[in-house]
Amino acid sequence: MPRRPILIAPSLLAADFACLGDELRRVEEAGADWLHVDVMDGHFVPNLTIGPVVVESLKQRARVPLDVHLMISEPRRYARAFVNAGAQVLTFHVETARDAADARETIALFRAEGVQRVGVSLNPDCPVERVLPLLGDVDLVLVMSVFAGFGGQRFLPETLAKTRAIRATGWTGYVEMDGGLNAETIPACAAAGADVLVSGSALFSAPDLREALTRFRAVAEAARGETIHA
Ligand code: DX5
Ligand code: ZN
Repeated sequence: MPRRPILIAPSLLAADFACLGDELRRVEEAGADWLHVDVMDGHFVPNLTIGPVVVESLKQRARVPLDVHLMISEPRRYARAFVNAGAQVLTFHVETARDAADARETIALFRAEGVQRVGVSLNPDCPVERVLPLLGDVDLVLVMSVFAGFGGQRFLPETLAKTRAIRATGWTGYVEMDGGLNAETIPACAAAGADVLVSGSALFSAPDLREALTRFRAVAEAARGETIHA
């Protein structure tokens, strides 16, 4: 089966929040496939970021899908608000669920609210076994390669084993990796089987955003190629 192309999802967390519309345009012109939007509630993670109101404004201008990463304790409570605001991909953290049955209830509620693509995420200290029973229920797994909460952290290479374990099951959904991704860390992510790559600080701090994004895509595609022919 031919694989989907690599998708690059810039994380707006590293953008200048005083001019989000311009920043959105800048990443779209640079070739972004999705726009990654980090939602934090000050409870599941110690940081606070943005809510549905901002997502709604972004949606008015976005040409690419909004990939909304909920780092919040009560994902069910806010699912409708984010769908109505225009989130096309909506991801919750499995740590917010008691067990697999509880996580499935969240997934079912997301679907009932009209989420196009449902994702489940896990922090570096959460075992991959928490998400393996859910692969048949979701469209995307977001493997955190740093602890959720802040941009600009160092990539944790031990998280790559989770991406490999998910792919080892033969699962063909999206595997997204998020945190500390740059031209040095992306090849390992792609070789492990990730096909959606989130980058915040490395992209937004690059002197030429388009050049950086193009390079990230190229090193990712090349690393996948090596896996095929290995
Ligand atoms: C961390 C967020 C990430 C973060 C990525 O909690 O989920 O999306 O913004 O930023 P960088 O690429 O700077 O690690
Ligand atoms: Zn994120």
